[in-house]
Amino acid sequence: MAKLNNLLLDEAVAVHAARRRFLTGGGKLLAGSLLLSTLPMQTTLAAATVANPAAGPVPLIIDTDPGADDVIAILLALSARDRLDVKALTTVAGNVQLRYTARNARMVREWANRPDVPVYAGCSRPMLRAPIYAAEVHGAEGVTGVKIFEPKQPLAKGSAVQYLVETLLAAAPASLTIVTLGPQTNLAMALIEHPEIRQGIKEIIMMGGAHFNGGNITPAAEFNVFADPHAADVVFKSGLPLTVIPLDVTHKMLTSPERIDRLRKIGNNAGKIAADILDAYVEYDIKQYGLPGGPVHDATTIGYLLKPDMFKGRMVNVEVDTREGPTFGATVVDYYRATKKPENARWITEGDTQGFFDLLTAQLAKLP
Ligand code: RIB
Ligand code: CA
Repeated sequence: MAKLNNLLLDEAVAVHAARRRFLTGGGKLLAGSLLLSTLPMQTTLAAATVANPAAGPVPLIIDTDPGADDVIAILLALSARDRLDVKALTTVAGNVQLRYTARNARMVREWANRPDVPVYAGCSRPMLRAPIYAAEVHGAEGVTGVKIFEPKQPLAKGSAVQYLVETLLAAAPASLTIVTLGPQTNLAMALIEHPEIRQGIKEIIMMGGAHFNGGNITPAAEFNVFADPHAADVVFKSGLPLTVIPLDVTHKMLTSPERIDRLRKIGNNAGKIAADILDAYVEYDIKQYGLPGGPVHDATTIGYLLKPDMFKGRMVNVEVDTREGPTFGATVVDYYRATKKPENARWITEGDTQGFFDLLTAQLAKLP
């Protein structure tokens, strides 16, 4: 544990130094908007090129803050090794502190029996704003409903930001899909430190944001964007092909007692773990929003990656409100093209709920 703490401390020092440069405008760190005005803004985005059996497994990196729904997303992704080539899990502070999100990602890797997938610890706090967490939703250590344990396999050496930079600089052009399931601090810091890493990114698929649905952490903002709006601003201004899975669709694709029971009835450990975690996790959303079930936000993102034809959306312009105040962290979506601003994201609003849970059940059956 002491080693992990030292690593996390080193990482926090590195990020703090990067942030200081960011704030003073020194070195090559530029404020999000300044930096990004130097990035070539792509006006047309490549269509979402997603998992398609003929093309072979899609190489991807999952950036995550496990988190109950992150756990389900990671289990789903790791179960589909014929379709998704998960290169690494990079972890970030978000739902809970980094020490727990990094440990939880290692727990999920063990449940999926995927020792081949390295787990990196990344940024321990947002770029600029004060840290916030969602322990009231996910529990003090990020996962409830199951027995927490210290996984055998340690973290990979080095920080997640460094891993992203080195991997994306060395990657074949437009070869890697980046899936973000938490605050986008790691990806934003990598883009700020080395904008040239864009060359290795095929597309970004993010769980985050809200428009028609309204927010879940404030009336205006969704948690992942609200937890680091400046990082989200860097990503939305990056000009990279970006697909957003917002609350607009995840709040429509809900669990039910039958859907959770089907997971448990798979009869393997993964099905039981998913069912026990979801049973504990959905209570908060059902009470808070008066929903008939709980949204498995992050796993919906992997469902999109595996079966995009289950979803519907459109290309829109999205801006992130980074001004402190009642709309801090809001994703402002020009859904009806009122401003004619360039479209920078595919915004998903519809999904096939039963198809998603059928997929999740079939895939988790492939795990131990
Ligand atoms: O708003 C939902 C998102 O915030 C999900 O990614 C959940 O894990 C939390 O991080
Ligand atoms: Ca998450």
